[in-house]
Amino acid sequence: MNEKLLDGKRVAAEIRAEVGERVAELRGRGIIPRLDVILVGDDPASKVYVGAKARACEKLGMVSGTHRLEPNAGQAALERLIGDLNADPEVDGILVQLPLPEGYDTHAALDVIDPAKDVDGFHPRNVGLLQQGRPSLTPCTPAGIMELLRREEIPVKGQRAVVVGRSDIVGKPLAMLLLHAHATVTLCHSRTRDLTSVTREADLLVAAAGKLALIGPEHVKPGAAVIDVGIHRLTRREEVERLFPGDEARMARFEAKGSVLTGDVDFVRVAPLASRITPVPGGVGPLTIAMLMSNTERAARLRRGREE
Ligand code: GUN
Repeated sequence: MNEKLLDGKRVAAEIRAEVGERVAELRGRGIIPRLDVILVGDDPASKVYVGAKARACEKLGMVSGTHRLEPNAGQAALERLIGDLNADPEVDGILVQLPLPEGYDTHAALDVIDPAKDVDGFHPRNVGLLQQGRPSLTPCTPAGIMELLRREEIPVKGQRAVVVGRSDIVGKPLAMLLLHAHATVTLCHSRTRDLTSVTREADLLVAAAGKLALIGPEHVKPGAAVIDVGIHRLTRREEVERLFPGDEARMARFEAKGSVLTGDVDFVRVAPLASRITPVPGGVGPLTIAMLMSNTERAARLRRGREE
């Protein structure tokens, strides 16, 4: 079983170590990459993510800034702050934590980020460049998945890849990256007819729909590689028992913490069929932050015309 597991934590540590070396090299030339994160409102999960991003930066020798806006600060205040960060020569990366509270226009906010500082790769310029197959700054979770596939030598070229979920953050950009890596890509979503028959074609199946245990054994071709992007917090004992029957270690974690995390894949039932599979937690999650670090360091070089 263990050799099947795709250890995102280990690969993320590898990537962070490489970024750390490049940061050290930049610092030797007097350049200290800096990431500024904007958090609007006080969503508890977003606060945790923002804190993790800042700590990851500092561990690698980069600088981080965190900007908190009240939930009712308003679109104009948000865009003003982005404008100030665009104009600040010390700032290499700008990230607006999503989702924004109700009442904010996400597209309008992302549109005003300087594309050269857009470490999320969400600005329409960067989205367009990715679509054309000449990516600049690429969204972190899809980029992390591509790194995982490459470093774990999971074949992509000529393979049938099925992505379930069409978000701007994961599904759409990942479909583009897989296409440019020469996979035959199908993008499924909540209105896809007969999802099972489509996903069963996949050599590489990516679950990024945001639906708990959506992907069961009936969705998976034996031997497929399965990547789980979902993240759900189970807070009810019955759910843990249903999805992880007999898993005493997981139940002990549930007892200790009051919750455990799981993904869009019914891991216990799918893992026996899969050739390789990512766990949740410890799969795709750690790669996202590692790629954000990589994008920040890259933005620092790109802005100075030092991209090699
Ligand atoms: N919220 C969930 N994922 C992401 C991400 O990749 N970037 C930003 N900015 N917000 C998110």
